Amino acid sequence: MRMTSSNPITGQTALVTGASRGIGRAVALELGKTGAEVVVNYSSSTEKANEVVKAIIANGGKAYSIKANIAEEKEVNEMIQSVLERSGQINILINNAGITRDGLLMRMKSEDWQSVINTNLSGVFLCTRAVSRSMLKQKSGRIINITSVVGIMGNAGQANYAAAKAGVLGLTKSTAKEFASRGITVNAIAPGFIATDMTKGLEAESILQAIPLGSFGTPDHVAGAVRFLATDPAASYITGQVLQVDGGMVMS
Ligand code: NAI
Repeated sequence: MRMTSSNPITGQTALVTGASRGIGRAVALELGKTGAEVVVNYSSSTEKANEVVKAIIANGGKAYSIKANIAEEKEVNEMIQSVLERSGQINILINNAGITRDGLLMRMKSEDWQSVINTNLSGVFLCTRAVSRSMLKQKSGRIINITSVVGIMGNAGQANYAAAKAGVLGLTKSTAKEFASRGITVNAIAPGFIATDMTKGLEAESILQAIPLGSFGTPDHVAGAVRFLATDPAASYITGQVLQVDGGMVMS
């Protein structure tokens, strides 16, 4: 039905972490429409991940799912190895998986600090390092890290999450500098409030008042930005940047 060979993403393989629901799911579906082969990473719900795969295939695309906890080095390395064996390439990596364990700093449990850092920051490092060898060899690639406006502005009750997401910004810029000479771009997307399971029940008047465009964003808003940054040549001269998808909430 669609997918012409002139589509710049057709024939590429895109790995999306945490893609069984929310923003990751929308990103996987969007990339599936471009003709990319989409690898749907998930950590627990095989059923939901396979629904995403089915939806992409029903739409005329190519996809398969792969289970791995992106906070675990061994699982990440095995996942990347198995994608490279099955698909022969990874052209686009979307580091999307993330968690929250909110609480005021004074009472924050060390395990809540550590688990958020492990998933939201170390997970991005592990996945990026694991794909780097093949991307450097193929002299091309797109890495897109989903951070948060909270990593830019901070947020009371989210010291662990803000620290991890701010860390992703530094990681994005450093990796962009290291990989630029090999034709690999690395960018971050910083969503504001997006309506997903993560923000369920948060649509309070006080939050909405802080968003100039007046509403929460949708996963599709983030997916559109990901698609742009993954597209050649539209975004090929953009690296080390942070694209905010936040309804104008944070203007820096
Ligand atoms: P969500 O909670 O709906 O989805 C997160 C996905 O990541 C889930 O499918 C979960 O199973 C997966 N995941 C968590 N830990 C994992 C691990 N160790 N290994 C593999 N997968 C794992 O959340 P949402 O809203 O879709 O968030 C996606 C990303 O966007 C996260 O990085 C989040 O921090 C970020 N974000 C979300 C915002 C929002 O307002 N919803 C705002 C700013 C950033």
